[in-house]
Amino acid sequence: MDKIVIHGGQRLTGEIRILGAKNAALPIQCAALLTDTPTTLRHVPRLSDVKTMGELLVGLGCTVEGDRTLVIDPAGVGSGPLEAPYELVKTMRASVTVMGPLLARYGRCRVSLPGGCAIGARPIDQHLRGLEALGARIRMAHGYVELKARRLKGASFSFDVVTVGGTQNVMMAAALAKGTSRLENCAREPEVQELAIVLNKMGAKIHGAGTSAMEIEGVDVLNGIDHAILPDRIEAGTFMVAAAITRGDVLLEHAPIDHLHPVIAKLEEAGAICRVEPRGLRVIGPEALKAIDLVTRPHPGFPTDMQAQMMVLATAAHGQSIITETIFENRFMHVPELCRLGADIHVNGNVAIIKGPAKYTGTTVMATDLRASASLVLAGLVASGKTEIRRVYHLDRGYETIEKRLRQVGAKIRRFHGAPN
Ligand code: UD1
Repeated sequence: MDKIVIHGGQRLTGEIRILGAKNAALPIQCAALLTDTPTTLRHVPRLSDVKTMGELLVGLGCTVEGDRTLVIDPAGVGSGPLEAPYELVKTMRASVTVMGPLLARYGRCRVSLPGGCAIGARPIDQHLRGLEALGARIRMAHGYVELKARRLKGASFSFDVVTVGGTQNVMMAAALAKGTSRLENCAREPEVQELAIVLNKMGAKIHGAGTSAMEIEGVDVLNGIDHAILPDRIEAGTFMVAAAITRGDVLLEHAPIDHLHPVIAKLEEAGAICRVEPRGLRVIGPEALKAIDLVTRPHPGFPTDMQAQMMVLATAAHGQSIITETIFENRFMHVPELCRLGADIHVNGNVAIIKGPAKYTGTTVMATDLRASASLVLAGLVASGKTEIRRVYHLDRGYETIEKRLRQVGAKIRRFHGAPN
C-alpha cells in the first residue's frame, strides 16, 4: 500500500500539462464494443480506472494493447460470456457502461449490480428504464442484472434524474437501435458531448448532445475510429485550486477552458486570477482568499467532482463559506479528515459551513474516495509540517502521478511504497 508524504508551505510556480479525461476515456473504451473493427484512443491517462476498464474489455473478448495510445480490437467479443463481473463493478461503477453497447451489439449481457458506493447509494434504475424503453427485457438474479433484446427499437424516453452514466449507456444503445430515439432530461456534461462526437465519428447519427434533449437515428453498423481523448477538466480544476491556495502562479497547459467556466468563476470570486493564455490557463493565487458559497449541480452547474477540492479553498479563505452538495448524498467524507488537519467545518445534512482561514497542521490522514483524496493532498500543500496520506490507491484511480506533477511546480511531496493500510 502506497502513502504520500507532503511537507506543506511551498508556493507553487511553473507549468503542469493537463492529461486526458478519465470520465471521457471510460465510456469511450466501452463504445469500442459497438463495432467489430479496432478503435485507437490517444492521450489516454494512465489510471487504475482505465486499466480496470481494459481488464473488463479483455474479459469480454477484446484485445487491448498499448499505453497512452490504446488499441481496442473487439473482434473476439461474443464467443465467451458477455458479463461484467462483481469483482470489477465493485471497484469501478463505470463498468456498468458496457451494458448499452453489449445489449445493442450482441442482444444480451449480464452485469453485476454496483451496490453501495462510498459516496452514496448510486442506483442504476435510470440506465435500466432507458434500456427497457428501447426494448430490453430485464431480469435481476443473484446480484446481477440480465438484459436481453433481439434488436433494440428507437423510442422516446425521459430520464427522471439527470445521470451522466445513464445518458451514456442509453445513447450508445440507441445508436444501434432500429429507428429514431428521443431522449429527454439528458446529462449535458462535456464527457457526454465527447461520447457523441466519438459515436458520430463511428457512423452514428446523434443530434443535440450537450443539450438536455437528444435525437438519435439508429444505424445498422458502426466502425472503429481513431480519437484523442479531451483533457481532464477535474484534474485541471484540482491544480487550479492548488495554485490558488498556495499563492502560486501556475500555467495549466491544455486546460479545457470551455469546460471550466463554473470553476473559473468561483476561483475568481475567491480572489484568484485566471488568465487564458495561448498555451492554456494561468492561475495566480491572491495574498488572501475570500469566502465563497457554492452549490453542486449537473453541468453547466458547479461539478460535484470539484466539491471536495473547493472545500479546501474555502477553509483557506477569510470568512464563512457555505457549500451545498446536491448530487451525491454522502459526499462529505473528507470533512472529518480536513478537520483533523485543522479545518473548522460544520456539516448539516447536505450543507457544509466552513469558517476560515484554517491553520492547517500536518498529521496522518486517510483517503476515502477519489476526490476526497485530492482534497487531502491540497490541504497538505498548505499545512505546516508533515502530512501523510494513506490509501492513495483512491487517488490513482483519477490522477496520474499527481506527486511528480506537483513536485515539478515546487511542492515537497513524495510517494512511498509499502505503507501500512
Ligand atoms: C459520473 C462521473 C462521476 C461524477 C458524476 C456526477 C464517470 C465515470 N463518473 O458518475 O465522476 O461524480 O457523473 O457528475 O463519468 N442516479 C440515479 N439513478 C441512476 C443513475 C444515477 O438515481 O440510474 C443518481 C445518482 O445516485 C446520483 C445522480 O443520479 O445521485 C448522478 O449520478 P450519475 O450522473 O449517474 O453519476 P455517474 O454517471 O455514476
